[in-house]
Amino acid sequence: MNISPSLPVRPLRIVLPGGSAQVGQMLARHFQQHGHHVTVLTRGPYTAPWPTVHWDGENLGPWTEHLEGADVCINLAGRSVNCRYHQTNREDIYRSRIHSTRLLNYVIAGLADPPPVWLNASTATIYRHSLHRDMDEATGELGGNELISKRRRAPDIWNFSVRVARDWEAAFFETSTPRTRKVALRSAIVFSPTPGGAFSVLSNLVRLSLGGTQGNGRQFVSWIHESDFARAIEFLIAREEIDGPVNLAAPHPLPNREFMAALRDAWDVPNGLPAPALIVELAAFFLRTESELVLKSRRVIPSRLLDAGFEFDFPDWPEAAEDLVNQWRHRND
Ligand SMILES: NC(=O)c1ccc[n+]([C@@H]2O[C@H](COP(=O)([O-])OP(=O)(O)OC[C@H]3O[C@@H](n4cnc5c(N)ncnc54)[C@H](OP(=O)(O)O)[C@@H]3O)[C@@H](O)[C@H]2O)c1
Repeated sequence: MNISPSLPVRPLRIVLPGGSAQVGQMLARHFQQHGHHVTVLTRGPYTAPWPTVHWDGENLGPWTEHLEGADVCINLAGRSVNCRYHQTNREDIYRSRIHSTRLLNYVIAGLADPPPVWLNASTATIYRHSLHRDMDEATGELGGNELISKRRRAPDIWNFSVRVARDWEAAFFETSTPRTRKVALRSAIVFSPTPGGAFSVLSNLVRLSLGGTQGNGRQFVSWIHESDFARAIEFLIAREEIDGPVNLAAPHPLPNREFMAALRDAWDVPNGLPAPALIVELAAFFLRTESELVLKSRRVIPSRLLDAGFEFDFPDWPEAAEDLVNQWRHRND
C-alpha cells in the first residue's frame, strides 16, 4: 500500500455538506478512523457515528456556525443522478447542486475564520464521449452536443449532464474566496464494496450471469476504488499548491467489454449475458435510471494527481475488482 501524503498531525475539523450517501459516509468513516472530527450537513438529521446537523441546501441557518473555524469543507450535496431525467428530476438535479454551492460560497466568503480548503463535488461526466483519446484536465474537451458516431450527436440527456457539471463548477468558482482554496472533484464512478452503489448493482448482474458486455463494449469505463478516492482527497487537502479542477479516476480506464470480463473473473463467474444498447435502454427504463451511466464513453486520466506525485493503490481494474469482491465476501460471510 502506498503511503498517503501527510495531513497535519492535529485532528482536523471537517464539514461534509451532503455527506450522508455512499461517498460521504465512506469519507466520514475514513476521517473519523484517522482521528479527525467530522460533521455532516444533512436535510435529516439522522443518527450516525459522527454529528449530523440540519441544513436544507437553500437557506442560511445555525449550520453556518459549523463552518466557522473549520479546517476543511467537502461539499457532496446534490439530488442523486440515479433516476429518470424527466423535467422534475432535472430541476432537482440542477438546483440542488447549483444552489447549495452558491449558498456555501456566500457563507464561506463571509466567515471570520473560513476553512482554508474547500473541495466541491463535480463529475468526470463533464468530458465529452471519448473512444479514442484520453481526457485530462489540461487537454480534455468538455462535452455537449459532440458527435458520437458519423451521423449521431450526443443525446439530450448526455448534454443535460454536461450542462449541470459545467454550471456546477461555474457556480463553485464564481465567487472569490481569497482565504479558501478551491478544488473541483471531477470524479469517476466510485467503486465501494458496500450495498447500494455501482459496484453492488454490477456485481448482482454478474452473479446472476447477466454481467456480459454492455452496449457494443467499446465505450470506456472510468472508475476509482473507494480507498484511492479517500487517499486522493487527503492528498488534495495536504497539497496547498493544488487548486481548480482535478480528475479523480484510476489512471487506466478500460473498454466496457474488458471491464465486465474482469469483474466476472473476480466473482469466478465464467459467462454473462451481453446487453446490447437497446436492452440497456429497456433495463434503464424499468430500473428508473438512465443508460448514460453505462453507454457514454468516459476515458478520463488523473494527470494532475499523477504529476503531483499521487500513487494509486489500485491503478488497474482487475486488482481493484478482486479487492472489492474479497471485501464484499468478507462482509457478507
Ligand atoms: N457516487 C459516485 O460514484 C460519484 C461519481 C461522481 C460524482 N459524484 C458526486 O459526488 C457527490 C456524492 O455522491 P453520492 O453518490 O455519495 O451521493 P448522492 O446520492 O448523489 O447524494 C449526495 C447527498 O446530497 C444530498 N441531497 C440530495 N438531494 C438534495 C437536495 N435537493 N438539496 C440538498 N442536498 C441534497 C443528500 O443528503 P441528505 O439527504 O442527507 O440531505 C445526499 O446524501 C454527488 O454530488 C455526486 O453527484 C458521485
